Amino acid sequence: MKTSGGSNAAKRRAGESAAAAVDDGDVVGLGTGSTAAHAIRRLGERVDAGLDVRGVPTSFASRELAADQGIPLVDLDRAVGPDAPGIDLAIDGADQVVTVAESGGGAGEHTGGTGSLGPANALVKGGGAAHAREKLVDTAADRFLVVADPSKETAVLDRPVPVEVLPAARSVVAEAVRSAGGDPELRAAERKDGPVVTDNGNLVIDCTFGGIADPSALSATLSGTPGVVEHGLFVDLADEIHVGTETGVRVVTR
Ligand code: A5P
Repeated sequence: MKTSGGSNAAKRRAGESAAAAVDDGDVVGLGTGSTAAHAIRRLGERVDAGLDVRGVPTSFASRELAADQGIPLVDLDRAVGPDAPGIDLAIDGADQVVTVAESGGGAGEHTGGTGSLGPANALVKGGGAAHAREKLVDTAADRFLVVADPSKETAVLDRPVPVEVLPAARSVVAEAVRSAGGDPELRAAERKDGPVVTDNGNLVIDCTFGGIADPSALSATLSGTPGVVEHGLFVDLADEIHVGTETGVRVVTR
């Protein structure tokens, strides 16, 4: 699993807070990453204690972890449809999230209180290259709970946006990203020569745009680029952000 900023204790508080929102009988989208993993582990403990849930994994990693925890699983194809149960809520991490501090200040003031998602409800995801399936599951859910620590909060998104592309499309998409004002970089694997290959057999281009003033417009541009399978901008999808801190949890809502 990739590493990210933020303390493990803060991530655990966030994950466990979101896991507490799951009710008996729910179908739950299971996100990917170190923070969502805490939610999956807590759900596993609740299953051991008798909770009846089914999980919809968003990646190879979340499927494996959930199976290890004894969480019954259901494929997305079987969870959504005319005679399917639907997904009650999804719990997933983020690499960066726009929140507005109660005082109305910037990221440096995100130290407490409840705050709000504000008008710019936007996340960057895909640090673990799982954002294509994550977006499918998180969008299909009735409620989408993001789990994060304060290091992920910002007033303006400026992390590189991961873009999953068909292997044959990498140069074409890279050119389109340059035309849109971005700086594309093919993600290299860390313990393999060559690029990261996603769970879907595709490549990831990390695209730096600097501060993203209009995530919605950039999302539309990337989505409209041939060869793009999915990108890591999640706009107007989150319903709650559970921000774990060193002392507790702050829940940021719409
Ligand atoms: C996976 O591709 C990502 O979208 C993760 O959800 C995101 O990178 C957050 O991961 P951490 O909780 O490990 O920071």
